[in-house]
Amino acid sequence: MDLLILVCHDESNKLTLNDLRKQNKSYLKSQNLKIFGQGNLHGKVKISGAKNSALVLLASSLLTNERIILENVPRLTDIEKMGNILKSLGIKLIQKNNRLEVDPKNISIKDLPYELVNGLRASFFCIGALLSKYGEAKVPLPGGCNIGLRPIDEHINGLQALGAEIIIEEGIVKARIKDETNKLRGTHIKLKCPSVGATETLIMAASLAEGRTTIENAAREPEIQDLCQMLNKMGAKIYDSGKEKIIIDGVNKLRGCTHKVIPDRIEAGTFLIAAAATSSSITISPVIPNHLEAVTNKLQESGSKITIKGNSITIKGKKIKGVDIETAPFPGFPTDLQAPFTTLMAIANGESKITETIFENRMNHVHLLNNMGANIKLNKNIASIKGVKKFKGMDLVGSDLRSSAALIIAGIIAEGTSRVYGLEHLDRGYENFESKLKILGIKITREFNKKTLTNKELKTNSDPADIPRYRAA
Ligand code: EPZ
Repeated sequence: MDLLILVCHDESNKLTLNDLRKQNKSYLKSQNLKIFGQGNLHGKVKISGAKNSALVLLASSLLTNERIILENVPRLTDIEKMGNILKSLGIKLIQKNNRLEVDPKNISIKDLPYELVNGLRASFFCIGALLSKYGEAKVPLPGGCNIGLRPIDEHINGLQALGAEIIIEEGIVKARIKDETNKLRGTHIKLKCPSVGATETLIMAASLAEGRTTIENAAREPEIQDLCQMLNKMGAKIYDSGKEKIIIDGVNKLRGCTHKVIPDRIEAGTFLIAAAATSSSITISPVIPNHLEAVTNKLQESGSKITIKGNSITIKGKKIKGVDIETAPFPGFPTDLQAPFTTLMAIANGESKITETIFENRMNHVHLLNNMGANIKLNKNIASIKGVKKFKGMDLVGSDLRSSAALIIAGIIAEGTSRVYGLEHLDRGYENFESKLKILGIKITREFNKKTLTNKELKTNSDPADIPRYRAA
């Protein structure tokens, strides 16, 4: 049976595509964060649940007919979109603050319009769960986004190795199990690169397959370990998650469970970097310190004092000196903190080099930082930085989730006022970001413009039209 996981509205959703088109289009120009510069942070901030864990945990609810309760789920637009995808399949979702109850027993099949699902790349990860549970799945190609082309060849190759027949027609990936038993067959898979999404897709697919699957060169991110922990609670048999080779012994059925999402290490790192950039002292919790080791090591190397106590980290920002970073798969320096760290290095003493090795187009913030007074030379994905003393505040447009965070940190450091547009990116991945910064002492407010600004009125140094027009990351 075909499970077409394209999303839009269902009766309970009341959200029509048109509403979304309208909302999305004007969002870019109708809201901005106004930031008064030269701020300092002080006090404590609570870290939310991890977006990149909650998304895949929601997808894994497709593997069971029983109720899943997720706690510590961040309130983000990406989570809302994944929720809409599940609801549009007939899955019941009840959200109470950061608690999400998912009841997949009445999953149905609907032929749904294509567009909404394209706003959420992570929806593609559902293909492994749907195929393994229902024998067939159809999912639109996720396409590229502002940070790169984001191919899915590793997902496809791995599913084919497990016994799926896959064709791609008119932008839809159509997968079905060839074997008449309607079960995938465990096998050995060696990934060409440790893709987070492909590792997650294949773990979910293998969890209900016949026999043992080993995934070599698997991604080791904490979000994958969180997924495996939850799947094992559901009755899966997964060993060595977090290592380069993961072993999955397929089972016949997975049951419901309750699971608490791990803290968001990228949000946590963003606040630590903001404190270092303003020579502030703050405490962040809850965190799992070893999820942030590469980041706290670099912050210490550049001069900040870091104290770890249980599930909290205190940073004392000192005089920051330039250090080099090169992004890498976990446990290396996370690509998702490259942009915020570039802002920090732009006002450090001395020189530094930032090398982005994961995504081909993740330096969108550099030209804006230079407009604010930074001295960064960009050669493909290598930023050579000479630290400057100050930035000047200005209007800026964030073009992806993490570069928006980098621009907000720059606005906090700058002299004068800055306005950051493109909040539809920021709101995908940072829960209550400006309220948390306000609690830490930053003067920041979200402004809602009465009317939608035109490009002309939005005099910013990076006209939104300049931003590569891919679909959302
Ligand atoms: C996940 O994306 C995260 N998203 C990203 O976070 C994160 O930056 C990324 O992992 C790397 O850590 C979610 O978890 C929802 P990948 P994913 O597959 O899975 C290549 C954020 O800001 N590749 O590990 O899409 C690919 O081109 C977002 O929160 C293939 O070649 O990332 C890239 O160069 C952004 N073939 C590299 O692997 C494939 O089939 C890493 O991509 C898949 C990936």
